[in-house]
Amino acid sequence: MAQLPPVDIFDYIVFGATGDLTMRKLLPALYYRYRDGQIPDEARIIGTARSPLSRADFQGRAEKALHNFVKPADLDPDTARRFLDLVHYVSLNGAEADSTWPALKSLLAEAPADRIRVYYLATAPGLYGQICENLSNQGLVTEQSRVVLEKPIGTDLQSANAINDGVGRHFPENHIFRIDHYLGKETVQNLIALRFANPVFERLWSSDAIEYVQITAAETVGVEGRGPYYDKSGALRDMIQNHLLQVLCLVAMDPPGSLEADSLRNEKLKVLHALRPITPDDVATYTVRGQYTCGKEGDKTLAGYLEDLGEDATSSTETFVAIRAEVHSWRWGAVPFYLRSGKRMAEKCSEIVIQFKAAPWSIFATKPPANRLVIRIQPDEGVTLSVSTKDPTPTDSLALRQADIDIAFEKAFGTRYPDSYERLLLDVVRGDPVLFIRRDEVEAAWRWADPILQGWAEDKVKLEPYPAGSWGPEAARALLARSGHQWHEDMA
Ligand code: BG6
Repeated sequence: MAQLPPVDIFDYIVFGATGDLTMRKLLPALYYRYRDGQIPDEARIIGTARSPLSRADFQGRAEKALHNFVKPADLDPDTARRFLDLVHYVSLNGAEADSTWPALKSLLAEAPADRIRVYYLATAPGLYGQICENLSNQGLVTEQSRVVLEKPIGTDLQSANAINDGVGRHFPENHIFRIDHYLGKETVQNLIALRFANPVFERLWSSDAIEYVQITAAETVGVEGRGPYYDKSGALRDMIQNHLLQVLCLVAMDPPGSLEADSLRNEKLKVLHALRPITPDDVATYTVRGQYTCGKEGDKTLAGYLEDLGEDATSSTETFVAIRAEVHSWRWGAVPFYLRSGKRMAEKCSEIVIQFKAAPWSIFATKPPANRLVIRIQPDEGVTLSVSTKDPTPTDSLALRQADIDIAFEKAFGTRYPDSYERLLLDVVRGDPVLFIRRDEVEAAWRWADPILQGWAEDKVKLEPYPAGSWGPEAARALLARSGHQWHEDMA
């Protein structure tokens, strides 16, 4: 794989630096890029959080994070030590105007004023506007400053607008990087290559040849320690409104004029605008919401969601969603796009299934099944096209057998698949917004999601229980069965 050149020297200032995201994702991702020679030794990673830690304390936490979240074979002690030298810490409450801003200011002032600054907000989204205002009042927003916003951007259109307005008062739109880590996944980016570098697929990419599309992001984990956040969010806000809609956009969009950021984002936006609205009265027809109850994984008993939340908890938050979406456009007509995501499901698997139409007529004794293209986003990243071939076993007739044309990327290219944050964190330094979400995309996604949430809040569709370790409630099967369709795991 061709190595990218190192980026310019930068200061990465992370708000919420003692949190899970920083430890689990940001620091390991920056370590990998440092190890691969893409981060200069003069760069600094400045953690800020309210905890009164010394620089050495924070470096200790960062070291632990590398041990926990970098593969042992990739963790070279000397490289890790040099990487930890880049790490600094300022104890600061970013949401408070009179916090210890002078400490951050003087640390930043040690570098030339035109150094690239990235303010990474890994805090509660409700604080984004306030932090940006404080940065601005402290004179810390320079021409070379960018801000990165973690999802969720709001809990509905109104709150998303409030956040975007708050940040937008201090940073121009082209300096705001709204991260959706699904766009950093190699296999999600590969959709662009697969679709637009291979005319063989693009010619068939419409309702003429495609019966339906499935996009699944299934997880085996429950809510782990994130109950307080998750219970206010639920699967629709946590996964569908952002990650799955972004993947849907890349599957459904028309070819962009170029790979330039706005060219791509304009096409994605058109898809979001073309999504058939699901009104509160439609939710029982087009959506299924579920919540896991206790179940089994082999011999292990898995707790239900309410138990995971804690003693005496009650909740009507969905941990599973299935939706029949449609993209009303000339290309797609009424082709269903089934979206599904859930916690505590049978397997960890994110994939896209393109189910082609069956042949209109069969000259064989048995009708050949329709072709299917499966794009595995994770794990086992790859692409499989199922085809009918002649059964090679000697028979008197021309019998058919199913086989797969299968590319497993890691095996095919012999390369490590980087975590999505690696690419995205340095794209911010490069100032390349192509894999980030523009404000109007966030708005369009909420405009589609809000009426569904409203219908659910009005209890227009039942919350279906499903056992932990299963593929979700039976109603999710029924959603497809109505059109004679099946989820991938149920297909022969
Ligand atoms: C995050 C969600 O955005 O994505 C989590 O908040 C979820 O709830 C995670 O677990 C899934 O990401 P991935 O990359 O493991 O599919």
